[in-house]
Amino acid sequence: MKSKQFPKQFKWGVTISSYQNEGAYNSHGKGPSIWDTFTHKTSFKKGNGNTATDFYSNYKADIAHVKALNLDCFRFSLSWSRIFPLGVGDVNAEGVKFYHDVIDYALELGIEPWVTLYHWDLPQALQDQGGWTNRNILHWFETYVEFCTKEYGLKVKTWIILNEPMSFVGLGYYMGMHAPGKKGVSNFLPAAHHAALCQSLGGRIVRKNVEKASIGTTFSCSYVRPFNRRVIHKHAAVRVDALLNRFFLEPALGMGYPTDAFAGLNFMSKYMKPGDEELLPFDFDFIGVQYYFKVVAKFSLLPPILFATEVPAEKRDVKINAMNLEIYPKGLYKMLEKFNAYPQIKSIYITESGVCFEDELIDGKVNDKNRINYFKKTFKYTLKAIENNMPIKGYFIWTLVDNFEWAEGIKPRFGIIHNDFSTQKRTIKKSGLWLKRFLSKRNNKI
Ligand code: BGC
Repeated sequence: MKSKQFPKQFKWGVTISSYQNEGAYNSHGKGPSIWDTFTHKTSFKKGNGNTATDFYSNYKADIAHVKALNLDCFRFSLSWSRIFPLGVGDVNAEGVKFYHDVIDYALELGIEPWVTLYHWDLPQALQDQGGWTNRNILHWFETYVEFCTKEYGLKVKTWIILNEPMSFVGLGYYMGMHAPGKKGVSNFLPAAHHAALCQSLGGRIVRKNVEKASIGTTFSCSYVRPFNRRVIHKHAAVRVDALLNRFFLEPALGMGYPTDAFAGLNFMSKYMKPGDEELLPFDFDFIGVQYYFKVVAKFSLLPPILFATEVPAEKRDVKINAMNLEIYPKGLYKMLEKFNAYPQIKSIYITESGVCFEDELIDGKVNDKNRINYFKKTFKYTLKAIENNMPIKGYFIWTLVDNFEWAEGIKPRFGIIHNDFSTQKRTIKKSGLWLKRFLSKRNNKI
């Protein structure tokens, strides 16, 4: 008979990131990151992460919550400019110690620390030299990863190289919606290629420096469907799928960029140096799948090269989250199937999934039934994937505490713990309490 329970060794975790949580943006020796610069521009109207959830001061209480909610793992990212205020060169000892404190406290409570090396907050000093568009990023990143792995490698065994390269390259270097606010193909293509090279370079450095490391990297993914059955829309969906779901994954797996889906990607060759093709793959121990929403694509003359656009969820009469994106739990299953189809992938962790609403604290409680519903459904699909022999090893919730949601500010709330940003008071939401009960049983049925 097929099991209806999660395997005992299945890992349950939660993910946060440095810029969205730490605060202490210009103190304790930290240098500015591109997100400090971007959010401090007068044209940016959604606040900033100067204080965020003040994880810098609250890390103990927050990690204690991870423990209290019966989770096994805590995934967080290192802020590059807290360690190297100028990206390279002098090290900020106080910043280095902060992450030791975070790691030590997690270990003390029996929580596994999972470190992400890059979750979008590039040191501004490196952006001043072109950031991800400058091929020197390979050397800068190498210095940073060498340092971090030697510093923390005895304590931390699970390392994630990049968080969602398509998000930070696409939104930050093509659409201008995220830091550093750059636009156009001439920024996008070199930034993308250098990120793809750093993804594998980082993997090789962790392998060299950390004994018995488990090494992964994460990809954003969206379940893409065509607007209707017309061939032009079907083809548009294939291109969007290649861009959103295959672009960074396939080079890491040794398959090169998905130029079969659209010839426009051949422009990438302009930024490729001899030998690059051999540098793109890395034998990752696991792949991190990060799923949030479904995308419907249709043919469009703009933007050129891609010749496709998204049909907004609001126009499709579907359930949407606080960022107007379609809530579609089944899409997680579809994405797991898609990733599982690559024979090179050994293990998969869902390193982020979650949903945002404009949750309200009423009489000291947040009744976020809709979030519980999302987790129940995506847990069921995860279990179904395991039953169908897909190597899914864990699920990490995005996120612990409501935080600074990038270009959207603090309105969309993703946490299982509510944050009052004026007092930093945390209140566990109904979803957090539900999760705690669910995990207390282990071998839990869903
Ligand atoms: C990112 C997070 C972000 C979340 C919700 C993911 O793409 O890794 O930083 O907050 O999605 O939008």
